[in-house]
Amino acid sequence: MNFHVLTLFPDMILTGMKTSITGRAMEKGLLSINAVNIRDFAFNKHSKVDDYTYGGGAGMLMQAEPVYLAWESVAGTLAKKARCVYLTPAGRVFSQSMAKELAAEEDIIFLCGHYEGIDERVLEEIVTDPVSIGDYVLTGGELPAMVMMDAISRMVPGVLNNAESGETESFSDSLLEYPQYSRPEIWHGRPVPPVLLSGHHANVDAWRRQEQIIRTVKYRPDLLKNASLTNREWQFVHELKKKLKAKGREDDSNDEDF
Ligand code: 6GU
Repeated sequence: MNFHVLTLFPDMILTGMKTSITGRAMEKGLLSINAVNIRDFAFNKHSKVDDYTYGGGAGMLMQAEPVYLAWESVAGTLAKKARCVYLTPAGRVFSQSMAKELAAEEDIIFLCGHYEGIDERVLEEIVTDPVSIGDYVLTGGELPAMVMMDAISRMVPGVLNNAESGETESFSDSLLEYPQYSRPEIWHGRPVPPVLLSGHHANVDAWRRQEQIIRTVKYRPDLLKNASLTNREWQFVHELKKKLKAKGREDDSNDEDF
């Protein structure tokens, strides 16, 4: 997998990606990062890449030409037309299924905006995938690009070792992960749940599944519509929701004491 990142902050990308698992994958030759500085393609003597917006309004916009030339310096070297991901809060929301799909590409170009955005005309010419990483606003596209590259990398064969790749499935059944424990058996007076020490594998599996359902109902009930649960498990979900509602009413009435 070859990642090409068009950015005003190439050092931020290189520093972030050379750490930990993505760094190891780069050393193994499974991944390469080509960070291209858009400023190198500024066509004025001050290397200015931003300007005021037509029609007025706050802030500066990245100009079309330096972005286009930076893209061309990459796209022109590739045999096949590469997808170009533009990081923007106004894009489709990134997901595990997109990470899986993009992991099959040979080259991906990421375009990171700054200031108030980028001139729409160059976006129309080069961007294939406008992508957001969630409903909040960041100062630039570099962190979102790194988030995407991290999630895509771990889906590339060989990047994770066997022990690590067990985690790969955690989102695929639409339930949150179960809690995990390591030594010591008691820490700060908190024991490890006894079932995990029982050696009874079926009971361990049943407990973990139950914990997954509890967490999902509590924190991500929106995921449940895609989960495949047994009739007994749906009944369990129903009871948990009733309990949570009752607890919510209890908490509300407590609040009124203040
Ligand atoms: Cl991709 N960019 C920016 N600037 N903010 C974001 C985002 C992207 N995704 C969520 N917030």
